[in-house]
Amino acid sequence: MPNTEYYNDKVVRQFLLAAAVWGIIGMSVGVYAAAELMWPALNFDIPWLTFSRIRPDHTFGVIFAFGGSALMGTCYYIVQRTGHARLAFGKLAGFTFWGWQLICVLAMVTMPLGLTQSKEYAEPEWFIDILIAVVWVSFGVVFFGSLTRRRIKHIYVANWYYGAFIIAVGLLHIVNNLALPVSMFKSYPIYSGVVDAMVQWWYGHNAVAFFLTAGFLGMMYYFVPRQAQQPLWSYRFSIVNFWALISVYMWAGAHHLMYTALPDWVQSVGMAFSLVLLMPSLGSAANGLLTFNGSWWRLKTDPAAKFMVMSLVFYAASTFEGSMMAIKTVNSLSHYTDWTIAHVHSGSLGWVAMITIGSLYAMAPRALGRPEMHSNRGMELHFWLHITGTLLYVGSMWTAGVTEGLMWRATQPDGALTYGFLDSLIAIKPMYLIRWLGGVCILSGMWVMAWNLWYTAADARARLIKPIPVPIPEPVPHQVPAPLPAAG
Ligand code: HEM
Ligand code: HEM
Repeated sequence: MPNTEYYNDKVVRQFLLAAAVWGIIGMSVGVYAAAELMWPALNFDIPWLTFSRIRPDHTFGVIFAFGGSALMGTCYYIVQRTGHARLAFGKLAGFTFWGWQLICVLAMVTMPLGLTQSKEYAEPEWFIDILIAVVWVSFGVVFFGSLTRRRIKHIYVANWYYGAFIIAVGLLHIVNNLALPVSMFKSYPIYSGVVDAMVQWWYGHNAVAFFLTAGFLGMMYYFVPRQAQQPLWSYRFSIVNFWALISVYMWAGAHHLMYTALPDWVQSVGMAFSLVLLMPSLGSAANGLLTFNGSWWRLKTDPAAKFMVMSLVFYAASTFEGSMMAIKTVNSLSHYTDWTIAHVHSGSLGWVAMITIGSLYAMAPRALGRPEMHSNRGMELHFWLHITGTLLYVGSMWTAGVTEGLMWRATQPDGALTYGFLDSLIAIKPMYLIRWLGGVCILSGMWVMAWNLWYTAADARARLIKPIPVPIPEPVPHQVPAPLPAAG
């Protein structure tokens, strides 16, 4: 029977393009926010340009628009390749693309206008939340529907991570956003007081766990062995880490609420689970890095592999740091300071952005019908711009954070504070300049990526891409079992 089934790569290409565009938009807003912290007059007294409004625009833009598009695109790519089957429900998959883009545009426009629920990482108002729920459930239907169509019996580990990411994020989003609308643009959460805080940080922390970690681990578990061109160092270890990660992460959220009105024992539970989290986090990082054993030489010539290796180093570093920051005494120094911002960007620029960029460079030529990316030197330049920018960003914010923490707790023999708040701001000002310069490097790298993708997509733009056939195994001829010997 002729092979007539083809991978649905159209939706993959659409998400790829969206990830590149949103990456540039989200990071441009980040660079502007960093510039405002250095030169506050840059808000020009225009309400929608104030730091408090563009900061959530930055976080939504990079996490949900850039990260979300990259996650959905790679998820659709991987579930087809690992299952040897075309994506289920093609039209619904197309709807998830357009629906997600509409959500991102609505959120990015309404937030600077001041329309927000004021819940961190869940700012969009109720009508956008309903749309998110609808698109997310459709995404789940396409993903799990595609899994049921697979021709390979085994479900590859990357799909386990994507599956957990889809289920958990759907659950978190719906529970955290239960609200009573009072007008088209205003709603109030059904929770109040400390319960609201707890639900919000159960959501906020698990958005990190399942959006910024589990989903990207799915990406890592597929693209790292592919780029290293050898099997995963230990498949069994990846499964152990999967179950450990998803069973432990949910309990650690209270580390965001240390020394607050939350009961003390809940804070201690958060701290204890955060320390246990070290094991699956470092386990996955080690598994990914050891997969390169025997092919480290690839790093000399392959910038995509370089991005992946450095992302794993940052994943190990930022999760180790997170577990340390969850210890109450450490948190008393780091909380409210720029140390948290350093940790966030070591995780997001180091881990999330680098594994995404590495995977996009690995996936783009295949999805765009080209043997390789248009320019290897372009990728190389992007790598060095990104790593330089990330080190400048994270290094400067660590220095600023520890300086702030130490200055705020310094006291005179009579108990009076040694420094006023303004003193600490003046002390860290040079660090804000360095952070901004780091951001400019990173953003320039993103433009280099966009240029490279544009030329790699030459065939796609000329509509010359040949669809890739699904490798359907030859049917095994039916074996007629030999008749049993007659009894007796
Ligand atoms: C060009 C690169 C980037 C620059 C210049 C940048 C800049 C900033 C700035 C100035 C803030 C506000 C810090 C504050 O409130 O004091 C911020 C917050 C944040 N950014 Fe970025 N960012 C960049 C990339 C990213 C990426 C790629 C991600 C995620 C994938 C990300 C996630 C976040 C998050 C989650 C916060 C909130 C942190 C918190 O309040 O604890 N950023 N960023
Ligand atoms: C074992 C893993 C991790 C642990 C135990 C952990 C722990 C922590 C702790 C203790 C804080 C400070 C809370 C505070 O004082 O306010 C924090 C903040 C944060 N972490 Fe992590 N972290 C981990 C991994 C990551 C990763 C991989 C990322 C990003 C990709 C990330 C993103 C964030 C963000 C965005 C915040 C700031 C939340 C906010 O206040 O807005 N974390 N984390």
